[in-house]
Amino acid sequence: MNVKLYNQPLEQIGADLTLEFVTAKALESHPHHALLTQAGFKAEQEQLCALHEHRLLVCGIDKEMSDELYRSAMACALKSAMNYAYSSLKCAQYTPERFRALVEGAVLGSYTFESYKSEPKPSKLIEVIFSNENNDGSSNAIDTLEAILNQTLIIAKATNFVRNLVNQTPYDMTPQGMAVTADSLAKSNNLECTILDVNGLEAENMNAMLAVGRASTNPPRLIHLAYKPKNPRKVITLVGKGLTYDSGGLSLKAAASMVTMKMDKAGACAVMGIIKAVSELKLDIEVHALIGAVENMIGGNAYKPDDVLRAKNGKTIEVRNTDAEGRLVLADVLGYAQEYVKADYIFDYATLTGACMVALGPYTTGVMGHNEALKQEWLNAAKQSGEYCGNLPFNRHLKKLIKSDLADVCNVSSKPYGGAITAALFLDNFIDEEMKEKWVHFDIAGSAYTESAWDVHTYGGTGAGVRMSMEWLLNLK
Ligand code: BES
Ligand code: ZN
Ligand code: ZN
Repeated sequence: MNVKLYNQPLEQIGADLTLEFVTAKALESHPHHALLTQAGFKAEQEQLCALHEHRLLVCGIDKEMSDELYRSAMACALKSAMNYAYSSLKCAQYTPERFRALVEGAVLGSYTFESYKSEPKPSKLIEVIFSNENNDGSSNAIDTLEAILNQTLIIAKATNFVRNLVNQTPYDMTPQGMAVTADSLAKSNNLECTILDVNGLEAENMNAMLAVGRASTNPPRLIHLAYKPKNPRKVITLVGKGLTYDSGGLSLKAAASMVTMKMDKAGACAVMGIIKAVSELKLDIEVHALIGAVENMIGGNAYKPDDVLRAKNGKTIEVRNTDAEGRLVLADVLGYAQEYVKADYIFDYATLTGACMVALGPYTTGVMGHNEALKQEWLNAAKQSGEYCGNLPFNRHLKKLIKSDLADVCNVSSKPYGGAITAALFLDNFIDEEMKEKWVHFDIAGSAYTESAWDVHTYGGTGAGVRMSMEWLLNLK
């Protein structure tokens, strides 16, 4: 979808359709009040009514003050407008913050993924035009709005880039496929890119990651992308779980839970999207994206429950469930990241546990770490960005649940509750002492993928992690 901003009053802009947001209160005095109420329109949130004879699409809004509701309503209105034969739509904007929400709603809400359809049906609607005139006739400075538009488009398009990657099938997006994708991103965005193959991983003693990938015919890759501006204010490391498929391994998933496990690479895709947006916005922050790209499969040489693995940092891990593989991959990638990049912060993104969804529901990212103030910064940034995040607190008793009688630590908890937190406490074993307070773990198991539309998301990858991370990075002092 092309999103444009015109320095003109709304009525002077030529477009096939006008989109108007209306609250129940505004409906009372609406020029088409009779027509709209006749059609059963009550201005409920996301209720739509098209008055084609007036080339007008009206969308209900519950709360005049909520940018979040406008973002979602814009997405909903566009999904509907894309079914008509109109090619352009125009819309007023309200305040700079709301303008941002509307642009996000437009770009994220109009996203479609039709690569696997034999006959893709492209939308006729190709253009959304905003006027700099507010709905009350006042207007905002065009320069301010242009800057917002530019920044919002970069971030929203990076989110759609992530969605495209997540939606690829495991056949198309193997660990090597992910390395090729990273390499082409590096070329187009002027990033450094280093790839380690199996030999490279062996040389780095990344035995936990190697064990997870061993039974697959698609061998693992470690991917390191780096964005290095001239005089960076800070250095940030992002680590992503890139399970291009998670069958569960020998602790095989049940048939129904295996479906959608192509999305187990969403953390890796998110860190690629973030570094893409950071480089396009030319932020003066050095960003490293490290990805463990692995396929968790079964086979005669598969790693097993009962195996003991020695991770890169020397710690030994008792494997009791091969489906808790993400933490094994992250153990080694976190080790590698801390050895090769001296960063101010380290953040990891992973579709790590079903338990995170049990704890927070299917829309919310779990936020874990030792530094309460840092976690709070992230909760604030997420809220501001339109993503849902929830704090999942550590405690010393939970830590005991991953003790092993045989090795240094066990890859699963001895109790069935608190699985998202015990997974994070497992990762904590692979965070160096000096990084403890500078680390945050994001469990995006619920938020990264959806099988039914909600908010600005349609079926498939959501791009979770990109918008909140850009918000945090843009606020970084
Ligand atoms: N990739 C899954 C977690 C997951 C589940 C993500 C559902 C998205 C949706 C992860 O590797 C996994 O299988 N975790 C296990 C851990 C358990 C064996 C301790 C889980 O959550 O059941
Ligand atoms: Zn698993
Ligand atoms: Zn997994």
